[in-house]
Amino acid sequence: MEALVQKHLRRTIDLRHRLHRIPELMFEEHQTAAAIRAQLDELGIAYTAGVTDAPTATVAVIGDPGKPCVALRADIDALPIEEKTGLAYASTHPGKMHACGHDGHSATLVGTAAVLNSMAAELPVCVKFIWQPAEEGGETGSGAERLVAAGVLDGRIGPKVEAIFGLHGWPGLKVGTVASKAGVLLAATDGFKATFVGRGCHGAYPHLGRDPIVTACEAVLNLQQFVSREFDPTDSAVVTVGIFHAGTATNIIPDQAGIEGTARTLTADGRRRIAAAIERRCDGIAAANDCQLRFTWKPGYPPTVNDPAMSDLVAAAAKAVVGAGQYFPIPKPSMGGEDFAYYLEKVPGCFFLIGMDPAGSEGCPTLHSDRYDFNDDAVGVGMRVFVELVRRFGRA
Ligand code: NI
Repeated sequence: MEALVQKHLRRTIDLRHRLHRIPELMFEEHQTAAAIRAQLDELGIAYTAGVTDAPTATVAVIGDPGKPCVALRADIDALPIEEKTGLAYASTHPGKMHACGHDGHSATLVGTAAVLNSMAAELPVCVKFIWQPAEEGGETGSGAERLVAAGVLDGRIGPKVEAIFGLHGWPGLKVGTVASKAGVLLAATDGFKATFVGRGCHGAYPHLGRDPIVTACEAVLNLQQFVSREFDPTDSAVVTVGIFHAGTATNIIPDQAGIEGTARTLTADGRRRIAAAIERRCDGIAAANDCQLRFTWKPGYPPTVNDPAMSDLVAAAAKAVVGAGQYFPIPKPSMGGEDFAYYLEKVPGCFFLIGMDPAGSEGCPTLHSDRYDFNDDAVGVGMRVFVELVRRFGRA
């Protein structure tokens, strides 16, 4: 394997830099998809260009379709951030940037396809490669959800998938390391918007109106308290209000105040309960202050739950290629989220993390930072882990 990885590594890193220069937002990744497909063309790998409701998705299958099918997935979209890395291959698209490293994930998967294509006859499985748009959609839409609906797992696009794997570059882990965990790895990422409608008046005569700002403030504080009263103390949930809009002048009580936030939970039951609790509490606080409530719940991604056996496979493959001391079991879930969760709702699989921090450094910028850049030294790590877990799939 190593000779093949070395053979394709330089071109894979070059592709990563090309993708970094042309970041595109969710469902608009046309240049990105074209660059990925051009490299697949050069490699002689056939693919499906676009699926229902996701024209920028690319799906390729290599190997004997009569064998069990393992899927490998990369996300291809970027973020609405102005890049400040100063890199030679920095974004050429103003206000857009690969600040989550999806350029690295996408290129790594192309490199993996190049290696596995040369080994296809000896593989125990056929492999489906999925370059997925719109991982960053959050409450506004998920590429994974659309691809699952289009049939990327169930046999309508290539063979039926038995198991699926994906990776994410991770600041805080040294480059060359791999980490994951069985069970829930990442949280559900639901959102909400609550608008408290009162009655505006002069700030000197508050008794003539109904103050939506005081009402919304009460709600913000209450949403910080209820998890401790309504959730099992050993379960995890977090509510963050990140938007608060109200008012135009210091001496005017406005007609309305709006808050928006994110609610993170680790189980389906927790999701249902936090949604009900947030609406009930906003409703009650609005009523207590004689205000009206307009409430919207915005379902986001489900929790990302790794299959225990597939997590064991990733751990074994990672230890084989990076060394036993370079694989780290993750002790507890993160409250971040990933739309890889939609695949894991349908088939077993494992999402894992690969280190981004340069050797000998204090660390690297965080995900979604305007200075983040996927570490080129991790491209080979991702390729090796993907290739090794495919080679081991189904073998005890
Ligand atoms: Ni990401």
